[in-house]
Amino acid sequence: MELTRAEETMLSGSEGRAVRKSMEILVALGEIYGAKRLVRVSSVQVSGVSYKNLGDAGIEFLEELAQDGRARVRTTLNPAGMDLVNWKAMGITQEFADRQLQVIEAYRKLGLEISCSCTPYLAGNTPHYGQHIAWSESSAVVYANSVLGARTNREGGPSALAASLTGRTPLYGYHLKRNRAATLTIDVRADLDSTEDFSAMGYFTGRLADSGVPFFRGIKRASLESLKSLSAALASSGGVAMFHMGNVTPEAPRMFPPSESVVFTTTDLSAARQSLTDHGDPDFIAVGCPHCSLKELETIAQLLTGRRVSREFWVCCSRAVKRESDERGYSAVIERSGAKFACDTCMVVAPIESMGYRVVATNSAKACHYLRNNGMKVLFMSLESCVMEATKRR
Ligand code: F3S
Repeated sequence: MELTRAEETMLSGSEGRAVRKSMEILVALGEIYGAKRLVRVSSVQVSGVSYKNLGDAGIEFLEELAQDGRARVRTTLNPAGMDLVNWKAMGITQEFADRQLQVIEAYRKLGLEISCSCTPYLAGNTPHYGQHIAWSESSAVVYANSVLGARTNREGGPSALAASLTGRTPLYGYHLKRNRAATLTIDVRADLDSTEDFSAMGYFTGRLADSGVPFFRGIKRASLESLKSLSAALASSGGVAMFHMGNVTPEAPRMFPPSESVVFTTTDLSAARQSLTDHGDPDFIAVGCPHCSLKELETIAQLLTGRRVSREFWVCCSRAVKRESDERGYSAVIERSGAKFACDTCMVVAPIESMGYRVVATNSAKACHYLRNNGMKVLFMSLESCVMEATKRR
């Protein structure tokens, strides 16, 4: 792979060990994937923040890098394993909290923004069309490629961090126009009435498309919330990093829908929803996967007005969106009901299984997928049904 003089210098170690290590990761990746060179990135988003997933080895790795490494471009963080402020009220143990705060401190030293959200695009880290970026939260990768028109591969935590410390990423995959073409047409013949419907369709399509690029045909309208749910689901059941949709994807108007096509019907929609539902009485209800938008918080506040929750109910969102919700008065209504905000974290990366919960109701296909992998039973339902379930008299 061809390196510029500045990149050779970084690789030589004369700019410190963290930069050298990062360059080694990027060069190795570039060689595996046949990149001819590196490209500068304007934005980075790093996953691998929860102590639940990182463990002590992860802390050691980060602390070593933090000795002399510093972010060179704007870099935001994925959710951590707990709300960094209200962790006690969430039932997190002191031991877990101490280790989680150690992780956060290492990232702070590295110069990353402690934003702890999987929706950086709702909190100011919003790249533009055509910009090269290196993001590692898979749902945000799909959203960035497909809705914003930025260019990113599905980075791992270490490769995104390496991009942050050098300002570069290998030029291959979704950074190249030729790899952004659609590979499979999904003819949508079902009425998609809610974000949950988009989530279920994404789950169905992710399985079919694997790591291809689906082209959705026949969708009349899609809200930001629906697109973020679709992005998350596509990336959880498959290796999807991008989709095309007319009136949404900036590149879609110049794209021909592939001749290989699959029809998505109302029956498929019901089957997808069914496939995400086990049996059981939920002892934990959580919404906000991906993290809630302000509009979703407004809806939750409306649904909770005058009600009390009878089960543990988490509303997951970024601290930035929570601040806006505070100003509009939504947060007060939500908290008055007994529901808890889970800022900086979510139902998947927080250690809820070790807190004794067994059956989770949620409106996210992605959350269902990963919670099942963590040994939980799941119930996939609408946002409204989640609130009904949480406030049901027992
Ligand atoms: Fe975000 Fe957690 Fe879902 S990181 S996309 S809320 S699994």
